[in-house]
Amino acid sequence: MCGIAGYVGKKQAAAILIDSLKRLEYRGYDSAGIAIAGDNGKITRKRCKGKISNLEKLIRGKNLKGTTAVGHTRWATHGCPSDENAHPHADCSGRTVIVHNGIIENHASLRSALSAAGHKFNSETDTEVIAHLLEDVLKSEKDFLKAVTSAASKLEGSYALGIINSDNPGELIAVRKDSPLVIGLSADGNFIASDVPAVLPYTKEVIYLEDGQSARIKKDSVEVFDSSLKKIKKKISKITWDPVTAEKQGYRHFMLKEIHEQQRAVQETLLGRINRGDSSVSFEDFNLTAKDFKKYKKIFMTACGTAYHACLVGKFLLEDGLKIPCEVDIASEFRYRNPPIDDTTLVITVSQSGETADTLAAMREAASKGAYTLTICNVLGSTMTREADGVIYTHAGPEIGVASTKAFTCQLAALYLLTVYFGRLRGSMPVKQAREMTEGLLKLPLKIKKFLDEQEQATEKISHNYFKKNDFLYIGRHVNYPLALEGALKLKETSYIHAEGYPSGEMKHGPIALVDEEMPIVAIVNKSFVYEKMLSNIQEIKARGGKIIAIATEGDTETAKIADDVIYIPEVPEILSPILTSIPVQLLAYYISLLRGCDIDQPRNLAKSVTVE
Ligand code: F6R
Repeated sequence: MCGIAGYVGKKQAAAILIDSLKRLEYRGYDSAGIAIAGDNGKITRKRCKGKISNLEKLIRGKNLKGTTAVGHTRWATHGCPSDENAHPHADCSGRTVIVHNGIIENHASLRSALSAAGHKFNSETDTEVIAHLLEDVLKSEKDFLKAVTSAASKLEGSYALGIINSDNPGELIAVRKDSPLVIGLSADGNFIASDVPAVLPYTKEVIYLEDGQSARIKKDSVEVFDSSLKKIKKKISKITWDPVTAEKQGYRHFMLKEIHEQQRAVQETLLGRINRGDSSVSFEDFNLTAKDFKKYKKIFMTACGTAYHACLVGKFLLEDGLKIPCEVDIASEFRYRNPPIDDTTLVITVSQSGETADTLAAMREAASKGAYTLTICNVLGSTMTREADGVIYTHAGPEIGVASTKAFTCQLAALYLLTVYFGRLRGSMPVKQAREMTEGLLKLPLKIKKFLDEQEQATEKISHNYFKKNDFLYIGRHVNYPLALEGALKLKETSYIHAEGYPSGEMKHGPIALVDEEMPIVAIVNKSFVYEKMLSNIQEIKARGGKIIAIATEGDTETAKIADDVIYIPEVPEILSPILTSIPVQLLAYYISLLRGCDIDQPRNLAKSVTVE
């Protein structure tokens, strides 16, 4: 997903912007560029396809001087990745330069009108129309901020924009609608960025710009305006993340580092929320009374990708603990299927980033129909957390690897807590059941550590037996069926191996036809009430020559007799097992991808934060 950065300050901007853009690399990108306004007002643009290292080579020795600049990492939406399509984009005169994250939906009609009026376009992007549109507006409106907001009012779609102009030196205008934008404040100058990690080495003080707001940013001032250009006072948020938490800390990849952070991340997500005296749960930012909750007759959960898999586990938990129906939908489907929602519906969205366009749209759709919206989210101040009626934060810390790992286990932890919270509120969960769940949860972080200490090497070794295979199946039952889906997703996105997840009971209805000695099957066979059924399933596969990698409970000798390889997880109550079974499926994907030489932290075609539809 595109990342934007900008700086107006006392220091030379080029090095700062390159550094900020590198900190946005995790969002995924295919080209990068910067534009710097020199002291004479002239703006120089440097852009290229590929990695930021290419851009560094391009600007090396060019003596790019200037203290006002914008930069961009592009994830192609309109036009292929190329030098010409890379941002920043300029108007015909080169005096107005723009970086943009989002999609301009009416770009085609704007482009033809602007072309007819004589504007010359140099790229295929939707963004370039904004620069030309602004060029026209600036002919009659000399106030830079007013001109930007007037041009923005003609745009349909989503945008976070950073704009500089030769006639307004030392000034950067930022505006947003449906795409994230933060402003960083420091004594040496002020910043804009798509996300906090880009500014963290320079400041811990940020302002989150809201939809429809704009900002005039200078080296020693930041003014924020509402949609009618009335100046407003914004809260300055203090970021508690340490910049080193956003670095790899000695691990070869962020994905591996984040897999190892799960003990701490899950611990922090549980921290302070369980009252061991009465086994109740409370949340700092979310509180419903029993009376409020009584009116909810149905729950919908909606999310994308890995977060959707967390919702599938959540369905088991909530229906069991609350005894009310809970439906789970992929957000891109939910938003268009006109689901039956009213003010007796509770809609839960789950998102690491809090910016995923489909999930956000699904949440807005639910809110417009009168539902109470609750979001489980990892990013403080993200759009979903600002718009939802209630928020439960997962405290996973920044997740940089594109493949979600620690955010997922923390989403699960939050869903267990939510189940106890609602179950007690509704009176549908006996204290004994709440105690078993909360006490079991508190033991999980140590079990995660035990698994990593004792089984990581074995998992790595097992990966050597299978990394050359082209197709995998993942199977599981009950709460571990979603983990089969998640295991398959992790493998396909990081290793590019084709993989499918199935509920084991479905094998005989079709997929078992695929089984032969070339098809490894990862089976989640931990001790549970469906254990015997899982044993039968893997026996059926074995009888057809399939290769089985089992994820089993330590001490299970029966599974070892059937499976080709076994990864053992510590014993855990079945209902809580998904947090533990997550770790071996993540590690398998990681080590197989490593052996295949894949770009693990930034898999091809993927972005960390999917802020377009
Ligand atoms: C897969 C992955 C994605 C995300 C999905 C939703 O490893 O990371 O499938 O889970 O794009 O993103 P968020 O959680 O930010 O809404």
